[in-house]
Amino acid sequence: MRGPTIGIALAGLALVFAASSCADLKDDTQSSENLALGDALPGTNATQFAAAKANFQAAEGAPDGLGPIFNERSCMFCHQTGAVGGAGENIERRYGTLTNGVFDPLANTGGSLRQLFGIGGFNVGGLNCNSGVDANPAPGATIFAGRLTTPLFGLGLVDSLPDSRFDQLASREPAAIRGLVNRVTIALANPADSSQAVGGTRVGRFGWKAGVPSLGQFSADAYVNEMGITTSSCNGGVANRAFGTENRANRAPSNAVINGCPDDAVPGTDDDFATETNNCAGGVNQLQDDVKNFTFFMAHLAPPPPVAISAGTAQDRGRTLFNSTALQCSGCHRSDADIFVSTSAGGVPAGVVFTPYSDFLLHDMGTLGDGIGNAGDSVAVTRRMRTAPLWGLRSRNLLLHDGRTTDRSAAIAAHNGGANGQGTAAAAAFSALTSAQKSDLLAFLATL
Ligand code: HEC
Ligand code: HEC
Repeated sequence: MRGPTIGIALAGLALVFAASSCADLKDDTQSSENLALGDALPGTNATQFAAAKANFQAAEGAPDGLGPIFNERSCMFCHQTGAVGGAGENIERRYGTLTNGVFDPLANTGGSLRQLFGIGGFNVGGLNCNSGVDANPAPGATIFAGRLTTPLFGLGLVDSLPDSRFDQLASREPAAIRGLVNRVTIALANPADSSQAVGGTRVGRFGWKAGVPSLGQFSADAYVNEMGITTSSCNGGVANRAFGTENRANRAPSNAVINGCPDDAVPGTDDDFATETNNCAGGVNQLQDDVKNFTFFMAHLAPPPPVAISAGTAQDRGRTLFNSTALQCSGCHRSDADIFVSTSAGGVPAGVVFTPYSDFLLHDMGTLGDGIGNAGDSVAVTRRMRTAPLWGLRSRNLLLHDGRTTDRSAAIAAHNGGANGQGTAAAAAFSALTSAQKSDLLAFLATL
């Protein structure tokens, strides 16, 4: 059940608490701790973190509601490179097509996310049922893309940021590489953050397309779409069933496989918290238990610890190149110390300064973009990708949205997305470096 632990001790992370932005801390407070990849943020309740982590690691079966179609049996089976919660080797499959020049996710055949497996035959109340599996390729699909599993370390700090921080980041970026703030509708509000309401908007900041506004919503989304486990929660006394409907193979109508069969071995919503709590009576405001645990675990994962850099080293010279106006890596892969300061929204400690090396904004990456979007998106919109956060890069294996390479130079060269690509100039500037400069830049990246 436990994922691999990392072989080397990652010493030297200084988690700095910004005195000025946190009323709880004394003016001169500055605490630093040595953390390893996968550790909890300082101050996290260890028992609660261990229980939440165990839930994230737990493998589910059909009696728990797994399926009918799914991609894996546990969150950890995908998220485990370096430590539990890490990136993964799993590459998901997305598909769609263009109809009259706009993106069609082929939702009527189960797109744009293809589930790779089905629970197969199962028996409920004497009925012999079968889950089926998504056909590959789905009928009509012309666009295919891979999606690498991303790491989760430090994301609770990102989740805690108010929308205004992302607007500020965009306003600081040079026009040629300026990112887009992706405001999306909240489908599941996190009760730990009072600024969130179902149907309101929040800046999408999670996933390769920055399409998801919070870790809580991502948890319920991943539970149903990756594992086939449907949930309901209570948002301010109102039952929330946004993630309560099973995916069926190629979106077959309910019970179509064999008449009378439930969608999977567990009829109805698998973990129907809203019903258990009498439809949220009495103003209950709580996420379903597993979703709450996944959210707690992820929210309290500390950021990946960087290696300290000494002045005058190759790493130091590489950092200067990374921040230079010629390369403009830091124009998108940002670490603005005044922006990246956590708030207490979502339940994480306020005042933690962090360096994600991302703006969490969308950029037109030209031909590097994966061509996947939401129904009705123009081709230009489907080329947009979120700046990949570079913290923890040295514990990573596969790189880029489809995991096409393990080679950091190749990942940088791939920023050349042609005429439309906002990363094209950076790729050209990298290619123009001397080999000594390239090796300095790579030495810096190896500290992240
Ligand atoms: C089958 C593999 C798989 C499983 C199982 C899985 N994930 Fe993921 N996860 C992914 C992939 C792939 C992405 C990138 C998705 C995208 O952006 O399209 C991702 C992204 C995420 C993100 C966004 C991180 C970021 O960089 O913004 C969160 C949060 C997350 N997963 C949480 C979970 C949770 C919680 C579970 C268990 C309920 C889970 N995942 C199960 C593959 C998986
Ligand atoms: C216009 C914004 C932008 C600029 C400028 C930029 N990047 Fe990126 N970077 C991105 C985006 C977006 C991705 C994700 C692309 C994808 O996979 O589709 C990315 C991905 C990466 C990755 C792969 C990370 C991963 O998790 O897979 C590396 C490494 C990287 N960039 C390094 C650099 C370096 C070094 C520079 C400067 C030479 C640079 N980038 C300049 C936006 C940018």
